[in-house]
Amino acid sequence: MKVLVTGGAGYIGSHTVLELQKKNIDVVIYDNLIYGHKESINAPLVVGDIADTEKLETVFSKNKFDAVVHFAAFLSVAESVANPSKYYNNNVGCTMKLLDTMVKFKVSNIVFSSTAAIFGNPVHLPILEDDPKEPTSPYGETKLAVEKMLKWYERAYGLRFISIRYFNAAGASLDGSIGEDHKEETHIIPLAMQTALGKRSEFTIFGSDYPTKDGTCIRDYIHVSDLADAHILALDGLLNGKESNYYNAGVGNGYSNKEVVEMVKKVTKIDFPVKLGKRREGDPNELVASSVKFQKEFGWKPNLSDLETIVETAWKWHKFHPNGFKS
Ligand code: UFG
Repeated sequence: MKVLVTGGAGYIGSHTVLELQKKNIDVVIYDNLIYGHKESINAPLVVGDIADTEKLETVFSKNKFDAVVHFAAFLSVAESVANPSKYYNNNVGCTMKLLDTMVKFKVSNIVFSSTAAIFGNPVHLPILEDDPKEPTSPYGETKLAVEKMLKWYERAYGLRFISIRYFNAAGASLDGSIGEDHKEETHIIPLAMQTALGKRSEFTIFGSDYPTKDGTCIRDYIHVSDLADAHILALDGLLNGKESNYYNAGVGNGYSNKEVVEMVKKVTKIDFPVKLGKRREGDPNELVASSVKFQKEFGWKPNLSDLETIVETAWKWHKFHPNGFKS
């Protein structure tokens, strides 16, 4: 099997590439390296943008792909609110070019990297696949637009897909070789780790007056390697005739921001300063997914996704890479 992984040098992409390689699946990575790190991969890499149709077509003409795993996208909720054009152009426009290229070269299977952000504020918990989708950001809207596009591309051109909606991807590879390194970090676990390492003077919990058990937001954390496994199962399913569909990938268990910070202190054994600050705009109170559908249909078991293992693996990475891939 040969797979094109767009955005394969990014956080979830590189962990998926690692798992694909463990299964002896041939991988070609297509990544513009704006946010990705070439140090995070050990596979053939084409440095390119999905906006560059000519380059994309060259890659498709040189390789006979069985499938594409499509990660390449911008992912900051806040930035998408400030600059929706950037998000629609890249996440929707360029994804359409990728799909068109797939159709042209008769590559008819895609695993798409979607997000919990398509749901907006949930109407009940845990969130089920068919729940209402009212994104509260352009980021969520762009991912939802692609989900809809996929349905129509299947009907018209026979492009088959599995869309996986990630909840809070976290943690790092078990061997500590790769981990989370975003240019401008916004995520709770890496920021708490950076504070534990003394790279930040204090950690701020955004909001402590939410209607939750301890007043802080609740999220469903999923280990990045469990997510990587989900992609491999999805690929395998698609290539074995499984129908196109959309799946939530969370664990069904929520942890509050206070609990996450406490776990970081416990695992690192460092008592760093924590401040209770104002709410961050656009944060829903609680996001917890049901992934029963994916677990049942694909036999997926997210067995690294308890919070302690997630934080332990993240710490193993951050401790030895205080400056990310540059260290
Ligand atoms: N948080 C803090 N302090 C920080 C950073 C984050 O308290 O310094 C809080 C946030 O306010 C939020 C929680 O930690 O309550 C989790 O925030 P993250 O930024 O780690 O993750 P999000 O839940 O905001 O975002 C994730 C993905 C997005 C995706 C979204 C779907 O990173 O790509 O889930 O809901 F869109």
